[in-house]
Amino acid sequence: MEKTAIILSTLFLTASALSGCSIDSGNTDRIKTEDSSLESTSELKWWQKINAYEIYVNSFQDSDGDGYGDLNGIRSRLDHLADLGVGAIWLTPVYDSPMEDNGYDVADYYSINTRYGTMEDMDALIREADKKGIKVVMDLVFNHTSDRSEWFKRSSESRDNEYSDWYIWRDPKADGSEPNNWRSIFGGSAWTWNENRKQYYLHTFASSQPDLNWENPKVRDALYDVANFWLDKGAGGFRMDAIPYIKKPSDFSDGPADDSEGRCDIHMMTANTDGILDFLREFKEKVCAGKDIFTVGEANGVSPDDLKYWVGENGVFDMIFEFSHMNLDFEGSETWCKAGSFELSDLKKALTESQIATASNGWYPIYFENHDKPRSIDHFFPEGSDPVLAGKALGTVLLSLRGTPFIYQGEELGLTNVSWDSIDDYNDLNSKSQYNIAIKEGFSEEEALSFVHRFSRDNARTPMQWDSSINSGFTTGTPWLPLNENYKEVNAENENKDTSSVLSWYRRLSDFRKGNDILLKGEYNELLNENKDIYAFERKDTSGRLVILVNFSNKDAGFDPAEAGVTDNEKKILFSSYGDNEGEKAGSIKSLRPLEAVIIGE
Ligand code: GLC
Ligand code: MG
Repeated sequence: MEKTAIILSTLFLTASALSGCSIDSGNTDRIKTEDSSLESTSELKWWQKINAYEIYVNSFQDSDGDGYGDLNGIRSRLDHLADLGVGAIWLTPVYDSPMEDNGYDVADYYSINTRYGTMEDMDALIREADKKGIKVVMDLVFNHTSDRSEWFKRSSESRDNEYSDWYIWRDPKADGSEPNNWRSIFGGSAWTWNENRKQYYLHTFASSQPDLNWENPKVRDALYDVANFWLDKGAGGFRMDAIPYIKKPSDFSDGPADDSEGRCDIHMMTANTDGILDFLREFKEKVCAGKDIFTVGEANGVSPDDLKYWVGENGVFDMIFEFSHMNLDFEGSETWCKAGSFELSDLKKALTESQIATASNGWYPIYFENHDKPRSIDHFFPEGSDPVLAGKALGTVLLSLRGTPFIYQGEELGLTNVSWDSIDDYNDLNSKSQYNIAIKEGFSEEEALSFVHRFSRDNARTPMQWDSSINSGFTTGTPWLPLNENYKEVNAENENKDTSSVLSWYRRLSDFRKGNDILLKGEYNELLNENKDIYAFERKDTSGRLVILVNFSNKDAGFDPAEAGVTDNEKKILFSSYGDNEGEKAGSIKSLRPLEAVIIGE
């Protein structure tokens, strides 16, 4: 896509219309970190001082024994979240839905899925969470709806009714085939035939998820109404699903084929199309302006260099989830059987770029897990790594970078991947598509399953592990997805009692972070850039300096203390994931043990 045009149109837009979301044309190119330490934490907004937490509603806590998590279940676990310093919970979609993509296929944005409860349950959750200082953040799935939504039903009835133009319809090619060769993100053609209209409709994801036509102002207004409805209910903000795809290019011609079926990745053709920011500016003006909420866009494909056009004074959201550090194993399309590998240096580079890009403009959502990715312990560390040490190591980075940490449910317990015997054991529709893609590309069933083991979204969707009782306290019924077999040992109750657990580590670091100006606001500088095993950085402001050192390898890793600036014996080891040398002088440390994480300060 032509990034320059996006950049220009963003830079020269005037600000006046967007009260409360003002645009300032100056200094967007500054990337130095120094300016960031000038403000004090009191100037930060509420959502910059908290931990956010993603709840995959199906799997968090069941309250009625049907095997699915629900809203009353979440309400019963608010203390677990408050103890973690959580100030906002992002709920995956809870709207009425046929659940083909577990709620990311919305049938009605104004009603609660009966599986999860009632609107009264939702009101009660918002109210009770509020009392504990926790805001509820809604997931707005606005690129598409379910094919079962009334809007789509009406749209597919005929070519000339009120809703005909609410989705993206095209005539077939002369030979009757799809309008172009775009491949949907979940595999297969991005077009599905509709017999009524004798036309195809476009779907970036599954065929049950038709894309809305954002060019139609009625569609946009209907979506803004939805968002405002939830704000009136007391929502504290939004996570904007699949946002790069809302704007389609004017040219719908074939793209360069990249698979054995002659198709081309839709992401390459439609993501972040010129003009997308105009739509999002309108959203900001009509929904967010003047309100004390936050927005975080899921913006795969926006590079750190372009962050400044998406967030901050000139941006459209408060934060975006970009994927530069999450998709290191993929070049271009996220086809699992084509995944490569990556080094720690790649991860360090991606994180540092994002920290720098948001240093003086915008704000960064720090995350290593979500409901679409495998568990981080199995992704960022060598095979066979000790999960407790690895969980603490990544937790240290999560809670010490500059930005708002987004903890994904179970990450605070150090949960790990599952590997089930057959593709039929998996629920996730993308796992099934990716398996089929691998088979079509010539891999054996065993190989295809190994890609699923590595990347399946079900890895992170297994039920929460609360205690050692049957089904880990998640449900009294049959869980919709099997639990990870390790739940008898790895669970919140055990980790509560164990001061050396991942959970205890998260709590300690969260308590430390809360109100700590250096961690909340101080500048970031990477240290030991050339070190192949250790990710090291400093956070500092005029009041002091913290050094964070994390060994990502399974062996002892040496470093030069002078280069890291930790020879000063006034400084101490404040935190050590091994726990045995806390309080010792900083000068005593010259190497890190396998997977060790330490924080050094005054
Ligand atoms: C986003 C969601 C994912 C969903 C997709 C389609 O990427 O995070 O779970 O399948 O959008 O809505
Ligand atoms: Mg239930």
